[in-house]
Amino acid sequence: MELIDGKATSAQIKAEIAETVARMTAEGRRAPHLVAILVGHDGGSETYVANKVKACEACGFRSTVIRREADVTEAELLSLIDNLNNDAEVDGFIVQLPLPRHIDEQRVTEAIRPEKDVDGFHPVNVGRQSLGLPCFRSATPAGIVELLKRYNIPTRGKRCVIIGRSNIVGKPLASLMMQRGIDATVNVCHSATEDLASITREADILVAALGKPGFVTADMVKEGATVIDVGTTRVPDATRKSGFRLSGDVDFENVAPKCSYITPVPGGVGPMTIVSLMQNTLRAAMHEIYPE
Ligand code: GUN
Repeated sequence: MELIDGKATSAQIKAEIAETVARMTAEGRRAPHLVAILVGHDGGSETYVANKVKACEACGFRSTVIRREADVTEAELLSLIDNLNNDAEVDGFIVQLPLPRHIDEQRVTEAIRPEKDVDGFHPVNVGRQSLGLPCFRSATPAGIVELLKRYNIPTRGKRCVIIGRSNIVGKPLASLMMQRGIDATVNVCHSATEDLASITREADILVAALGKPGFVTADMVKEGATVIDVGTTRVPDATRKSGFRLSGDVDFENVAPKCSYITPVPGGVGPMTIVSLMQNTLRAAMHEIYPE
């Protein structure tokens, strides 16, 4: 069993990005600039945004965090987005989710110009990704594919089973894994799937992205499979200073001995998601996807 080290891989990619940025600035161009809008004070969102700011520093990017209180109106948020859409000093921006319930997340997502949508959440980017056209790729799926590539894990003709059909992981990952060049045979399972274990046991690559701690048990995994754990649920833990620990969707202790490769939580997929955002921001700054 080999551990897939997302932390080390992401550090290496950030160093590669920083080299590109150093060349850009040496040529007199400005560094890429990412803006994050953070609404309210959700603990998870605070951590994610802080980690994104840190990643920007490691890559040599400029970053700006715009904060609004949880009672911000949807109109105010849309007006802020309009300003960023038209700000030539901003290459890409994200609105950290979830948003307070009185704000329509879909309306907010669609207000972001696809050319600046470095999360890849806008229907134009989602659609282009499913067609195999240049686009800002969804961050977590792109990070998973990057890990498989860098660990030389074969995908062509292999059976990839994804548990979870979310718009930000399950669905876009399915579309990436079946694309030409990756060439996996994909199954997507969800809460209505019958006899789930009989399907997951067929998987050469098993991706757990349903948000239920410890859901994937050893009996659900084929000997020698690669297991990718996307879960990051906060579970109470009195022994930690923070009062919680992050739990993956895989019963790691019992599943790991059966695997050829497995991602840990934390330190697996999480850091790669942030690195994908950095890659998208670099591409936005270089106008690589949507020429000026
Ligand atoms: N909330 C959880 N994951 C993400 C993400 O990748 N982007 C944004 N904007 N919000 C999130």
